Amino acid sequence: MQDRIRLVLIYGSVREERFCDQVVAWAREQIEQRSEFELSLVDPAVMFRQPGEAREFAEQRHQSLQQLLRADAFLIVTPEYNHGYPAALKQFIDEVPASWEARPVGFVSYGGVSGGLRAVEQLRQVLAELHAMTVRGSVSFTNAWEQFDDQGQLSEPRRANSALAHTLVQLNWWAQTLRAGRERVPYERIRG
Ligand SMILES: Cc1cc2nc3c(=O)[nH]c(=O)nc-3n(C[C@H](O)[C@H](O)[C@H](O)COP(=O)(O)O)c2cc1C
Repeated sequence: MQDRIRLVLIYGSVREERFCDQVVAWAREQIEQRSEFELSLVDPAVMFRQPGEAREFAEQRHQSLQQLLRADAFLIVTPEYNHGYPAALKQFIDEVPASWEARPVGFVSYGGVSGGLRAVEQLRQVLAELHAMTVRGSVSFTNAWEQFDDQGQLSEPRRANSALAHTLVQLNWWAQTLRAGRERVPYERIRG
């Protein structure tokens, strides 16, 4: 059997006391129940800590970079700020040398009334420039803070669990397909 898909989940928010942690915890639990993925988490808040900081952060950053470079697929968990994606997430996408090319990207978004969908639609444009393939399926939490209880559990998990499962099936299909494609013809040859 082929290797499992190396799926990297990326935090979209770097704010202290971010809601992102709750959404990531839910997504992580769901993904870890599936055998087709080898999951790792990358937090841009760690990537952007400054030189001179504690050694453990440098080690974490090194580890995150390795995970990004080896990834077969990405899942971005993002909020929406002022009808767009978080600036730190854009900086991360622009500056961190991840292997976006010919890799699929899925989304879990959250926010107020829009559920983060405007941020996701804008990210699709950005990622197309990096030759990434965004999958259609996604999960969106409208007024997210109303959907999670005090223990960080979803009050009504059925719909979100199902939407995430659908997204993961698409991510897996694209990741397998693109990995085979990259092995057949290295993407650099057709990048232009
Ligand atoms: C500066 C700012 C702008 C926001 N703008 C929007 C917005 O345009 N649309 C929306 O649905 N929610 C908006 N929100 C709500 C956030 O999506 C929500 O607070 C979310 O939990 C933030 O994620 P975080 O806590 O993980 O950083 C905004 C929040 C902040 C702090």
